[in-house]
Amino acid sequence: MLLQSIVSYGAALLVATVPAINAQDQALQTPPLSQLPISLKNHAKNHLLDSSGKSTSEHSANTLTLATNGTASTEPTAGTSEEQKTPVAVAFEQNSHWRRNLAELQPELFKKLGRGQSPEILWIGCADSRCPETTILGLQPGDIFCHRNIANILVPTDLNSLSVIQYAVQYLKVKHIIVCGHTSCGGIAAALANKKLGLIDTWLMPLRHLRAQNSKMLEALPEKERSLKMVDLNVRRSVAVLMENPVVMEAMIERGLQLHGVIYDVGSGELNELDIAEDEEIVEERKKAFKVEE
Ligand code: CO
Repeated sequence: MLLQSIVSYGAALLVATVPAINAQDQALQTPPLSQLPISLKNHAKNHLLDSSGKSTSEHSANTLTLATNGTASTEPTAGTSEEQKTPVAVAFEQNSHWRRNLAELQPELFKKLGRGQSPEILWIGCADSRCPETTILGLQPGDIFCHRNIANILVPTDLNSLSVIQYAVQYLKVKHIIVCGHTSCGGIAAALANKKLGLIDTWLMPLRHLRAQNSKMLEALPEKERSLKMVDLNVRRSVAVLMENPVVMEAMIERGLQLHGVIYDVGSGELNELDIAEDEEIVEERKKAFKVEE
């Protein structure tokens, strides 16, 4: 598989490697830039301060109210201001804008999603706030089944990830599994340092094993490259754990399920696919050791 450089917005990954979404839907899926979601932090900055740093509140007459049925609305409310909105209130308000815009652009989408899901991709990524899979791929609800944890670590005894994988592969019959690591990952940084963090040290143990197994090579690298190399090794390790999973192995053999290892650059939005192709001999050896049948 060739190393591919993929610009995230506009779902170029899908166009390049994963034929998951039909072309008709694709045209409708990328909203114009003016409709991109805001950041809570930018929202606060844009709306609370003018150029002199003085508070402004251009929408001061509007505040978010939550109805008793749990739905959000933006009714004008006297005596309240933008400054009083909590980040959660802003998020609910954004949800309201988002769902109305999307329903207008694609009137059938929510009706379709209300009936069920048939995602073609399982994404296994880091819990990091900068790596929201559906957003960085420029996709929509219904497109990606997802499991995220700290540092996108897969271990063969973790019931959580095993359940997600089994459901996605056996029942949803996803066609692709993407394991995504990312630059500037806190879990990777923690495993490359020696500070005691508590419970999380147990979770990060597989990363310390990787560090130990590759210590000479890692220590020879400058800090930034060392971190990126660990991200790369960790993605490959999680892909290897997937390949040894009996449900995944069977789907790869029986119906051509494809695995992908990718690294997302949080500083540029770019997604790069790793070459995870293997010699036939290695594949056969794995089958001998890990394939189980009824
Ligand atoms: Co991370």
